[in-house]
Amino acid sequence: MKIAVVGSGYVGLVAGACFAELGHDVVLVDNDQQKLNALQRGECPIHEKFLPELLERHRGQLLHFTDDLAAAARQSQLIFIAVGTPPKEDGDADLSYVESVAKDIAVAIDDYTIVVEKSTVPVYTNSWIRRIMLLNGAPAEMFDVASNPEFLREGSAVTDFLYPDRIVVGADSERCAAAVKEAYEPLVDGSYYNQPDAIPGRDLAPFRAHLIQTSAKSAELIKHASNAFLAMKISFVNAVASVCEAVGADVEQVCEGLGSDSRIGRRFLRPGIGYGGSCFPKDLLAFRAVARENGLQFGLLDEVVTVNDEQRNRFLRKVKKALWTLKGKKLAALGLAFKNGTDDIRESPAMAIVKALLREGCVITAFDPAAMERAAQEFPDGAVNFAAGPYEALRDADACLLLTEWEDFGALDLPRVKSLLRYPIVVDGRNLFSPEKMRAAGLNYYSIGRPDVTGGRNGLPGKALTEAFEEDQAA
Ligand code: UDX
Repeated sequence: MKIAVVGSGYVGLVAGACFAELGHDVVLVDNDQQKLNALQRGECPIHEKFLPELLERHRGQLLHFTDDLAAAARQSQLIFIAVGTPPKEDGDADLSYVESVAKDIAVAIDDYTIVVEKSTVPVYTNSWIRRIMLLNGAPAEMFDVASNPEFLREGSAVTDFLYPDRIVVGADSERCAAAVKEAYEPLVDGSYYNQPDAIPGRDLAPFRAHLIQTSAKSAELIKHASNAFLAMKISFVNAVASVCEAVGADVEQVCEGLGSDSRIGRRFLRPGIGYGGSCFPKDLLAFRAVARENGLQFGLLDEVVTVNDEQRNRFLRKVKKALWTLKGKKLAALGLAFKNGTDDIRESPAMAIVKALLREGCVITAFDPAAMERAAQEFPDGAVNFAAGPYEALRDADACLLLTEWEDFGALDLPRVKSLLRYPIVVDGRNLFSPEKMRAAGLNYYSIGRPDVTGGRNGLPGKALTEAFEEDQAA
């Protein structure tokens, strides 16, 4: 099929590259000339597994880049809109980019074309796009508008696209639904997975994608409801973690019991410093705004946001508890990205914590395997020092803070960590270690929803340390 994807952000770039991987002829449209040049030169502007391979495989063959939306629209059967929908001050999504793209498409097309919303948008966007296109002169019989929300996660976006839990196609006519479904046919009939050079994905052979056809409005709501539900799961477990701390229980044990109920499930029950990223915070606000506009108070969503914000403050209080005063303390911040596997720092709780600690007068040396370049742009005055690796960041620090769930941080060599730190203190916002392991390593360890490990001192091996401390206390 001939496909145009408008917007080459995370969603657009991944979708464009993956549609080319499925054998379609794709043109990726963006008005950022620098980005287009970089893509044409063979660069990959985001850190995303398998994306460089796909760009390399299809660039100049099935994947082209342009800033000419009108020409791209005219030559395409399907036009996916994947432009940004940032939040306005009241939380409502700003749809001005979507509107402007819809206007340009309306003026350009001269044959039956389907416009597909791929960006996360509030319900009714579909009908608005339709109205805008009619107002701009596109005849009603010359186009349809569909909703095909994208559920990909950053860090595993390519495999999420190619091995999806579900594909949702929201359309209000059979003709339109059939064309959008055709774009995904190799995933639904399973033929893609039989290709020898298919991107490896889930270990669930033989895999076939599950496609759900709905009305356009339902598809729009599925996306908002899914993200709100996942965010709710995270805030729920974070609130449970706070109760665990208050009563002296262990949230990881509670989660094992809780998540083993197949109706609840173990995934997205990881306590931490709260969710971040470009989707959850924005989508929660937008979903709440949709409810409000329709006269409904969805108070549960307010609480999800409140718990999430509070989680950062709780972590800061833990740092104070571990270090007493903060002014002048030298801290190693491991992790800046909003989660592992990405260089994205948008709405990152790790960045928010680093900024709060700078305001308290701390001296921060940070390390992140992927996000340092982006983070450095937020600290142009050199307020944060960046280290070449995690151990370099730890040297002579008063404490180590674990802020992003990178696998490498969970594999740190603990005796080395202890020997590098000025004080053996680790404050873990992602529960990457077991308290027992930290106690054995002689580290003081503060994590989320689990009892603190105290008693570690410099220069003494773990067990002896704890005993020495207990003896001190008894004395
Ligand atoms: C999310 C949705 O998962 C995806 O379906 C949607 O299309 C876009 O938004 P993403 O933003 O890439 O994807 O990140 P995700 O993996 O969902 O994590 C979001 C945040 O929640 C991260 O900050 C992560 O650290 C945090 N998180 C996730 C937790 O704190 N605990 C968990 O158990 C899971």
